[in-house]
Amino acid sequence: MGSRLFNLLGGGLLLALGATASQNERGKWVHRKWAGADYSCKCYLGDACWPGKQQWDALNATLTGNLRVDVPPGAPCYNLFQGPLGNVTTYNAAQCANVTAGFGTEQYQIELPAAGLWTYFTNDTCRPTTNPSDTCTLGYYPVLVITATTVGHIQAGINFARENNLRLIIRNTGHDFLGRSVGWGSLVINTHSFQQISFTDSWSGAGGYAGSAITVGAGVQAFDALNKLNALTPPKVMVTGECGTVGIAGGLPQGGGHGPLTNQQGFLADTALEFKVITADGVLRTANEKTSSDLFWGLRGGGPATFAVIVEASYKTFADVPSTGITLNINIANTTLFWQAVTAFTGYSNRFVDNGIYVYYELGIGGQILNVQPIVGVGKTAAQLQAIVKPLFSELDALGVPYQTSTKTFATFYDLYMGLFATEGAGSSALTGGWTIGKADIANNTTGIVEAFKTVLANGSLMVGHIWNAGYGLPRSEWSKSAVNPRFRAASNKLITVIPVDGNAPLADKAAAQYKLTYVVDNALKQAAPSGAAYVNEADPFIPNWQEAFWGTNYPALLKLRKKWDPAGVFYAVSTPGTEDWEQIEYGTRLCKRL
Ligand SMILES: Cc1cc2nc3c(=O)[nH]c(=O)nc-3n(C[C@H](O)[C@H](O)[C@H](O)COP(=O)(O)OP(=O)(O)OC[C@H]3O[C@@H](n4cnc5c(N)ncnc54)[C@H](O)[C@@H]3O)c2cc1C
Ligand SMILES: *[C@@H]1O[C@H](CO)[C@@H](O)[C@H](O)[C@H]1NC(C)=O
Ligand SMILES: *[C@@H]1O[C@H](CO)[C@@H](O)[C@H](O)[C@H]1NC(C)=O
Ligand SMILES: *[C@@H]1O[C@H](CO)[C@@H](O)[C@H](O)[C@H]1NC(C)=O
Ligand SMILES: *[C@@H]1O[C@H](CO)[C@@H](O)[C@H](O)[C@H]1NC(C)=O
Ligand SMILES: *[C@@H]1O[C@H](CO)[C@@H](O)[C@H](O)[C@H]1NC(C)=O
Ligand SMILES: *[C@@H]1O[C@H](CO)[C@@H](O)[C@H](O)[C@H]1NC(C)=O
Ligand SMILES: *[C@@H]1O[C@H](CO)[C@@H](O)[C@H](O)[C@H]1NC(C)=O
Ligand SMILES: *[C@@H]1O[C@H](CO)[C@@H](O)[C@H](O)[C@H]1NC(C)=O
Repeated sequence: MGSRLFNLLGGGLLLALGATASQNERGKWVHRKWAGADYSCKCYLGDACWPGKQQWDALNATLTGNLRVDVPPGAPCYNLFQGPLGNVTTYNAAQCANVTAGFGTEQYQIELPAAGLWTYFTNDTCRPTTNPSDTCTLGYYPVLVITATTVGHIQAGINFARENNLRLIIRNTGHDFLGRSVGWGSLVINTHSFQQISFTDSWSGAGGYAGSAITVGAGVQAFDALNKLNALTPPKVMVTGECGTVGIAGGLPQGGGHGPLTNQQGFLADTALEFKVITADGVLRTANEKTSSDLFWGLRGGGPATFAVIVEASYKTFADVPSTGITLNINIANTTLFWQAVTAFTGYSNRFVDNGIYVYYELGIGGQILNVQPIVGVGKTAAQLQAIVKPLFSELDALGVPYQTSTKTFATFYDLYMGLFATEGAGSSALTGGWTIGKADIANNTTGIVEAFKTVLANGSLMVGHIWNAGYGLPRSEWSKSAVNPRFRAASNKLITVIPVDGNAPLADKAAAQYKLTYVVDNALKQAAPSGAAYVNEADPFIPNWQEAFWGTNYPALLKLRKKWDPAGVFYAVSTPGTEDWEQIEYGTRLCKRL
């Protein structure tokens, strides 16, 4: 659909791209005042520094024609798209039906050039509608998109953004909860076309590791890698997130990347062997334990879109093993009993991680519901896993808690992953936050933690939980090889908080939701679990003291690295190392440095 829509745009719009061309202004910073302060801003359409048509055409030629003016996915449902380059007639019944049907589906949105799956940060100014005379504007979707298919395309995009001081965004699958893959007025480089996958039985590159490995292009998604690994003889697995559609060489390793194998192997970042990247100077580099080893460390959990654009990643792979999954569903009207059940469940978090058990659960979604699906025993028989969970079930029985449960053993972990994890949707709007509870907190303060859960639900937030410990199976000597917060090695129970709020809600409502997330909901969890940490891919970027919350003792080294590899801020993602002076002023639009 994307390309057909783009073709609706006539030459008039493209001419408008050059309307403000001014050769001697190019690359300049733009001075602005906002809320009484002075800022130096990136260059945006309408500023004198914005590149002219000649420059855009030259870029497009270098890109072999892969530059497009962006149009929001919902535009075919509207008569008129009032874009920043002018008005375009966009209504198309068939395409509107298509986007209406696809908007709630992850893979549909992933395939679009610049969509954000969680729409809050697109500003939701053009959702699919049945009323074509409504207003459709670009919101915070990008102005232009490069669909990169070669390393040269990414280099050209980075160089062009750097030379012209444009807001640059790297977009892979668009899963980002924090809005880091969309942005007002930006130029996007889409990496989804980098789909190559290869395997080796004996890694011979740097790092002293000689076992099996996978090498993937920047756009590869977990399910594709897992399917192909499973087809090998004998089948292999790798660390991915619990969600098969998330990319495995974009934001995931740069944030860390936890999943059902994290107890056994650590984060995806812990399994990294090498990255091929393009740094802010436009140079293609190899980063591993020998070459650019500081960069290699930073790319392993030090923050997405911070040090470089990944074009290819190599990871360790592992033998697959028979595995067992258990589900547990509790739905109780009696509030006292419900919280007794939640307290019992939460109290066993340390027991689970001390036995290498991973758990994915949802709390408070659809009512007084605790939906635990699945409890994963990698390499465990049904009898072994049941023995580990038995004390929990005995306690639930003693309390008189009604529940449904099932146990299923699979020939491989892969079969369990495909069989027990529910598919997730796209297109909803919410603010997300989160906090990771440490083992010491569970041991000391389960009651206080459950009180915090009550505060979270009472203040209109939902919760998604993941029980894992990133230090259980990974040898201690490996821990410091990734830049992730060392506190995750003592983690027990990781929560995502979700406050639904419309992307086009009145500004006061948005501010109130953000306040609630930061100062009520996430703050309650932090107070109850002081030994915890925040996970940069699933957290509130405005959490106070984010440097400490996201990276702990690793932060000073990451800040130095950022100054070395991207001193000018060619890349930017909110609350990543070195961005303390940066702000998106004017209601989350212009990216600027505070002077
Ligand atoms: C339904 C769902 C389930 C999830 N489950 C898990 C989970 O189990 N475990 C977990 O750890 N996380 C999970 N996440 C969070 C996930 O880690 C983040 O959303 C992550 O940022 C997605 O990365 P992406 O590259 O696929 O997405 P994108 O939104 O495209 O990119 C995310 C960030 O990475 C940057 N980026 C993307 N590609 C590159 C590149 N090639 N080079 C440099 N920067 C790049 C982007 O600029 C952006 O800042 C989940 C998210 C969702 C929506
Ligand atoms: C880039 O070139 C292609 C192929 O000629 C063209 O279809 C497209 O409209 C151009 N993009 C821009 C922004 O001019
Ligand atoms: C675009 O359309 C809107 C709504 O009809 C109108 O108000 C606006 O003036 C138009 N803009 C341009 C540049 O034609
Ligand atoms: C939308 O259109 C594309 C291209 O024609 C098609 O492949 C896809 O299945 C359609 N999706 C939906 C949800 O209708
Ligand atoms: C973003 O949405 C808010 C309402 O939530 C609106 O006031 C603002 O004008 C929108 N900005 C853009 C650029 O879409
Ligand atoms: C709710 O559950 C509690 C704890 O089991 C019990 O004491 C109480 O009687 C129950 N209330 C009702 C209305 O059933
Ligand atoms: C309780 O918390 C403190 C401080 O975080 C910690 O030192 C202590 O070990 C914890 N107690 C237990 C039993 O884990
Ligand atoms: C336990 O949690 C409560 C919040 O419910 C918090 O006030 C208290 O400080 C926590 N205690 C410890 C030891 O962390
Ligand atoms: C938020 O939670 C606190 C603590 O449970 C509660 O006192 C307060 O009323 C809640 N606020 C709202 C708006 O629900």
